[in-house]
Amino acid sequence: MLEAFAQPLNAATRYCAVFGHPIRHSASPALQNAGLAALGLDWRYVAFEVHPDNLRDAIRGARAMKFIGLNLTVPHKLLAVDMVEVLDESARTWGAVNTIRFEARAKDGVWRPLGYFAESVPGEIRAHGFNTDATGLGRALREDLGMELAGAKVVLLGAGGAGRVAALKLAAENVSQLFLINRTPAKAEALLEEIKHRFPGVFASVGHPGHAVDLVLNATSVGLKPEDNSPLDERQFPLRQARAVYDMIYRPAETALLRAAKAAGCRVANGVGMLLYQGTEALEIWTGRTAPVEVMRKALLNNIYGT
Ligand code: ATR
Repeated sequence: MLEAFAQPLNAATRYCAVFGHPIRHSASPALQNAGLAALGLDWRYVAFEVHPDNLRDAIRGARAMKFIGLNLTVPHKLLAVDMVEVLDESARTWGAVNTIRFEARAKDGVWRPLGYFAESVPGEIRAHGFNTDATGLGRALREDLGMELAGAKVVLLGAGGAGRVAALKLAAENVSQLFLINRTPAKAEALLEEIKHRFPGVFASVGHPGHAVDLVLNATSVGLKPEDNSPLDERQFPLRQARAVYDMIYRPAETALLRAAKAAGCRVANGVGMLLYQGTEALEIWTGRTAPVEVMRKALLNNIYGT
């Protein structure tokens, strides 16, 4: 439906893309093409399965073909840090790149996003790496759960790639207490050390709290499979002690954790908001314009849930 508003492909059409491995189930093309069409841009957003061994070549290829920008998803976000010429503060802070903006050096010597050049693009092009995952999470917690992170007490499940970015973002937002829980305790301990070093003002520890908290946040992959149980051991921490629960998983829409949290009377939200907001921010980075959030939300929900 929304695609109907896009101009037909033509020789002047410009491209953005997402690279991942696997990529087939990515909702980003639906999300971004709805946004591009609503902005009236003759741009398209496509998805490519790129093996990590070929990531550097794929980024080079996109640059050579004057793509506007890229998104990177699993397993490319860490690898790409060494494959761009410039790292934005966001990518440096979180140590991962999920958005690349290609930029060309204009006649006045200033680097400008490729999307800003209407006609011919100057020859010298660089890749500028950003990260929009952390801000996406922060915005989703604020808007979907009404969370005020500063001063909040939070239980974080997971210390993998997503868990690390979440922990650092929570610490950067000045949560007062952060409880890290992970199947492999050594990874939670390593994350704890990083937080203590970078955010000494945050009380952080490994293990379940003995008191009520404002938020339980799931950043593990437990819940992705329909048969998965909740990643939280309720003998260690009962959900009635949590005010709100956020699950980064968005497919299925309701995980066992969210079901249990609802039953315990918690406010709940799944990861669709985080996905939406990391995408709206990427679109803004490429276009320099305000993203049409509601159009993009609708396209995303339609793509994921068929609603
Ligand atoms: P992502 O980039 O999505 O974070 P990841 O880095 O592989 O992916 O991390 C997956 C997270 O889910 C980790 O915290 C992982 O725990 P381990 O560090 O012990 O591997 C967690 N996880 C995955 N499967 C799990 C399971 N069956 N039970 C508990 N935790 C699990």
